[in-house]
Amino acid sequence: MERTFRILGMAGSLRAQSFNRALLQEATRLVPKGVVLEIVELDGGIPGFNQDEETNPPPKIVELKQQVRQADALLFVTPEYNYSVPGVLKNVIDWVSRPYGDNAFSGKAAAVMGASIGAIGTARAQYHLRQMFVFLDVHVVNQPEVMVADAHEKFDEQGKLKDETARELIGQLLQKLVSLAKQLNA
Ligand SMILES: Cc1cc2nc3c(=O)[nH]c(=O)nc-3n(C[C@H](O)[C@H](O)[C@H](O)COP(=O)(O)O)c2cc1C
Repeated sequence: MERTFRILGMAGSLRAQSFNRALLQEATRLVPKGVVLEIVELDGGIPGFNQDEETNPPPKIVELKQQVRQADALLFVTPEYNYSVPGVLKNVIDWVSRPYGDNAFSGKAAAVMGASIGAIGTARAQYHLRQMFVFLDVHVVNQPEVMVADAHEKFDEQGKLKDETARELIGQLLQKLVSLAKQLNA
């Protein structure tokens, strides 16, 4: 029997009613058969990255690096703050990528998506994230691009995504992510 394929997902918002965390939750309901999506919460008092401490990171980061390494693939869900990736997510990426030579993201397959109340659904933030992944040696699914615009109109009271097109794209994105990870590990 084939073993369960594990995706580790994280969303770059700490907001209780975050659309991006809702989007990540939605993805747990859209994974292909035989795949689980585990969510890691980025709260828990992760301090701002300090290079003086990079060889002695906080316990949450030690655990997160291990989770990233053990995952078969990664899913990043980013809000857009000031045309870029929110500090919360960038901070975690900085911790997990260090010290030099111990980048837990290296060689991983990843997918990116995001939701914003604006008209282009985190496009700018997603491209900044993809730029980081060049240096971090992360292999990112190119298409489909999942950019949920006007997010305040796209979720119901329970945080469920009402946009059927977006739901279909998320399903496709997750399938592509699994294929890419399997190709890389073949
Ligand atoms: C500091 C800050 C900067 C923002 N900058 C942008 C932006 O550049 N583009 C955009 O579309 N929305 C921007 N927004 C609005 C976010 O899309 C909106 O707050 C969204 O709900 C954040 O994601 P979340 O719901 O997952 O927390 C910004 C919000 C904040 C708080």
